[in-house]
Amino acid sequence: MQSHKKEISASMMCSDLINLKETLKIFEDEGVEHLHIDVMDGTFVPNFGLGVDYIRSLRELTDIPMDLHLMVKDPEYKFQWVGIKENDIVSVHYESTFQVQRALDFLEPFGCKRFLAINPATPVYSLEEVLDYIDGIHLLMVNPGFAGQNIVPSTIKKAEKVMQLLKEKNHEDVIMEVDGNITLEHAEILSKIGASIFVAGTSCLFTGDIKDYAQNLEKLRKAINK
Ligand code: DX5
Ligand code: ZN
Repeated sequence: MQSHKKEISASMMCSDLINLKETLKIFEDEGVEHLHIDVMDGTFVPNFGLGVDYIRSLRELTDIPMDLHLMVKDPEYKFQWVGIKENDIVSVHYESTFQVQRALDFLEPFGCKRFLAINPATPVYSLEEVLDYIDGIHLLMVNPGFAGQNIVPSTIKKAEKVMQLLKEKNHEDVIMEVDGNITLEHAEILSKIGASIFVAGTSCLFTGDIKDYAQNLEKLRKAINK
């Protein structure tokens, strides 16, 4: 099985704005590979999230690439609003448009990594016809839109089904990101299954005090590389 480098994507919806600069300095010092940005439109998910102004300001503060999780209806007509950079990951939700493959086509000119996100109830076989058009699968372990939720138990087995599909279809080049209630325990289990990008939110990183962030990242790094 092709193994991919294990990476951390810090969920910025869980960070506080007051300590943003200090938080980013810690992430840079700890080698956090991505900043997970939950863009939410209040329609595809029942919540508003980090907007384009936030993204633009964050770009001024750090060079850490963004992992843009677009929880928006019909994303294919909105890509140019977001300020996508070539070294970003952009995840569009399978459930957010009737034209999934067209959305992936529209994303190509931006040069970013293209990921397809699927919610807990969306079957793995939905991915079959688009494996040639994606760099990664973004597996939601919770129903998206809010931090602090509990994992949907069936998603652990679902992660195994994703890896099995990639193997069967000779697409082990495609990587798997896991997002939602990634505790140290879930991270270790999912890493062994084959996940390689871990969204670090309130379940393992943003546990309260900023002085714990560096140690929390070290613990997560250990758990995903066991
Ligand atoms: C869920 C969000 C995540 C994540 C936050 O919609 O995409 O950013 O759940 O982390 P947790 O679940 O650990 O609070
Ligand atoms: Zn997310």
